[in-house]
Amino acid sequence: MSSDTPFWHPFADMAAVRGHEIVITRGEGVHVWDESGAKYLDGTASLWCVNVGHGRDEIVDAVAAQMRELASYSAFGAFSNRPAETLAERLAGYAESVVDDPRIFFGLGGGDAIDTAAKLARRYFAAIGQPDRVHLIGRAQGYHGTHGLGTSIGGIPANQAGMGPLDPDTTQVPWDSLEALEAEFERVGPQRVAAVFAEPVIGAGGVHRVPPGYLQGLAALCERYGALFVADAVINAFGRLGTWFAVDRFDVRPDMITFAKGVTSGYLPLGGVVVAGRVAEPFYEQGGVWFRHGQTYSGHPTCCAAAHANLDIIEREGLLVRGRELEGEIAEAFAPLADSDLVGDVRSGIGALGAVAFDAGALAEHPDLPARTFAAARERGVLVRPLGDAVAISPPLVITQAQVGQAAAAIGDAISAVAADLGRATSAAGA
Ligand SMILES: Cc1ncc(COP(=O)(O)O)c(C=O)c1O
Repeated sequence: MSSDTPFWHPFADMAAVRGHEIVITRGEGVHVWDESGAKYLDGTASLWCVNVGHGRDEIVDAVAAQMRELASYSAFGAFSNRPAETLAERLAGYAESVVDDPRIFFGLGGGDAIDTAAKLARRYFAAIGQPDRVHLIGRAQGYHGTHGLGTSIGGIPANQAGMGPLDPDTTQVPWDSLEALEAEFERVGPQRVAAVFAEPVIGAGGVHRVPPGYLQGLAALCERYGALFVADAVINAFGRLGTWFAVDRFDVRPDMITFAKGVTSGYLPLGGVVVAGRVAEPFYEQGGVWFRHGQTYSGHPTCCAAAHANLDIIEREGLLVRGRELEGEIAEAFAPLADSDLVGDVRSGIGALGAVAFDAGALAEHPDLPARTFAAARERGVLVRPLGDAVAISPPLVITQAQVGQAAAAIGDAISAVAADLGRATSAAGA
């Protein structure tokens, strides 16, 4: 038996990983180091989340101060704490322009947020006398975490395979077709749909730009059929799309927005749901109507303190604006990579994220192209994320234009090296 690890990694082929762990030990700005001392440009901001970059003492100090004062306490029932109260106020303030009369429900990450939104949609309709509205629609390529309902709503079949029966009142529609969404409303029954879940820009499903007018059309269909629109901004929020909650880029007003990741830049686990006042109303106004849901660490004071310090940095350093600038810089730097024979498409242009997608024929011949490219880019000091047909990037928002260029060059060079290994001719794009 090869060297073994009791740490069972998430989303990992443990048979391949064990004995080959990449142990990250330190981070500073846009860089991280592994145990061997190798330095990497963190092209993925960990998992799309370290928006303010690594090694921010300000967040560490805020967390330490909060832990000395009150590290942890439940917020169930009437209990509360100041960091949770003030963070909810702050987030509601950011959300006011995109959600009417917002309330904030906290959990510990994106998966919690999604299952909270899904259960709340059903619970809301039960509370207002429409208990048959239980159906939840997601989109192909959508990723909504790995909790029970999120697994069922998500549109990446590999994540559902072998997981047993999924929630029967969930379906997916093609990610880019309003006709298909409308047909699904009709098929399910117009009075039966509780909510539609959509990432404004699909992340883990391969970075897919939203077609012009799509989200506005989705919001209009939800309104017409009386269903709630849940915008999953777990990746997109807190600057990744250049605004607080991403949806303002598309002029839509969802009923709920799920968030996580960038709210603390991943320094501590935190996520939640921005809920429109009308959805909160039965629970706030009618005595005895409860949402019997929440986690031990909902509204955790130390996590909320980390969020405040992180949001201070985003505000002070103008990182929303920087996110907006980066979308152009990333698109420009990565566009030449499309010249490689191995590359089918460079998906970028909205948000500080992008994906280099491999040519379908080349991928059919070599399904491990994303994994090979990850390894070759790592050898060149850049971390990318292999996913589906592509490698993705979503750097910290503190990355400079020069560093974006370096990342693009290293990835272009990595793709050329992979092509050479496979004995394929390729123009050395992006080098
Ligand atoms: C759009 C989206 N929703 C939900 C999630 C789940 O978040 P978490 O991994 O914090 O549970 C993710 C995670 O990547 C995500 O990208």
